[in-house]
Amino acid sequence: MDQSVAEKLHPSSLSPQPSGVETLRWREGRLELIDQRRLPARIEFVACSSAEEVARAIRDMAVRGAPAIGCAAAYGVALEAARLRDAAPDAFAAGLDKAFRELAAARPTAVNLAWALERMRSATGAAGRARPPELAARLLDEAHRIASEDVAANRAMGAHGAALIADGARVFTHCNAGALATAGHGTALGVIRSAAAAGKRVSVIVDETRPFLQGARLTAWELKQDGIPVTLITDGMSGHLMSRGEIDAVIVGADRVAANGDVANKIGTYMIAVLAQRHSIPFYVAAPLSTIDVRIASGDAIPIEERGAAEVRGHAGVEWAPPGIAVRNPVFDVTPASLVTALITEKGVVHQPDRRKIAAILK
Ligand code: MRU
Repeated sequence: MDQSVAEKLHPSSLSPQPSGVETLRWREGRLELIDQRRLPARIEFVACSSAEEVARAIRDMAVRGAPAIGCAAAYGVALEAARLRDAAPDAFAAGLDKAFRELAAARPTAVNLAWALERMRSATGAAGRARPPELAARLLDEAHRIASEDVAANRAMGAHGAALIADGARVFTHCNAGALATAGHGTALGVIRSAAAAGKRVSVIVDETRPFLQGARLTAWELKQDGIPVTLITDGMSGHLMSRGEIDAVIVGADRVAANGDVANKIGTYMIAVLAQRHSIPFYVAAPLSTIDVRIASGDAIPIEERGAAEVRGHAGVEWAPPGIAVRNPVFDVTPASLVTALITEKGVVHQPDRRKIAAILK
């Protein structure tokens, strides 16, 4: 299929939200990403025309959140294929291989990145002996499909998860697992949105989520756009609120779920899960099947990204720590399956997830 035909078949905006959040959009042959480093102060888009530019946007966190980086990477392959469409088949294949490698190396923890690239690889294989222009069109089609399937999965997760949220619930969330972390609607925030849309009076407590402040900047912004009541706290306050009976449920997203149900998510999630258990508060994880990695037996084997010291020493150019102070910055942690009350997927809810139940939902 010709690229221009593929463009007509798919909307340029992939995430039409009530709030108008557009995480990724396809405009005139380019991928535009809302720049999540600038939110909420400025709404700006980063335009990408090559795999290299998309890989940089993922590395530098202009786009972040497991499903969103998977979708962006798929578009990165499609952009590279479009750039190389007039090349000889050998040069096309070599250029595409390089793009796959560069995108795969952009960030290590979220498995959705590798998952989306595998889908794009399979699309090239399925195209048999197709010429580069036809392959390029097929790859763009596949990227559009990955993005629209993500929105559909989030809506299905929202419907399943909303049933777990009581009317009037005060729900605590961490990081940003919203429209901004996906192609639209969100995973954890998708459940909250769906509960609110079903008429439940739900309010949200979100922590700042140091050091990148996804909670304070992104989740707080998204929920305000939607008119869902939201209160911001610092990362150390959730235990206090739980001990005072001010939190009814916790819901977070995930970057990778191991075969036994262990969950890698934003640093701090493990601490919150331990506190939730201490206070008998349900701890829910909302994640699409593309986040489950059955090749990883348990959370111990999930690669944990460590980012630069500057993120911990300060923020946005302001340094508050002594210059040169030693820093650790692991940006994810692992919550054992035993602390997870339920895993919410697009195929349904897995209560007290374990190896057998995870295998069953994937069938
Ligand atoms: O470093 P980030 O912002 O990419 O980390 C994101 C998270 O940890 C999210 O909670 C996770 O990706 C779930 S997204 C629906």
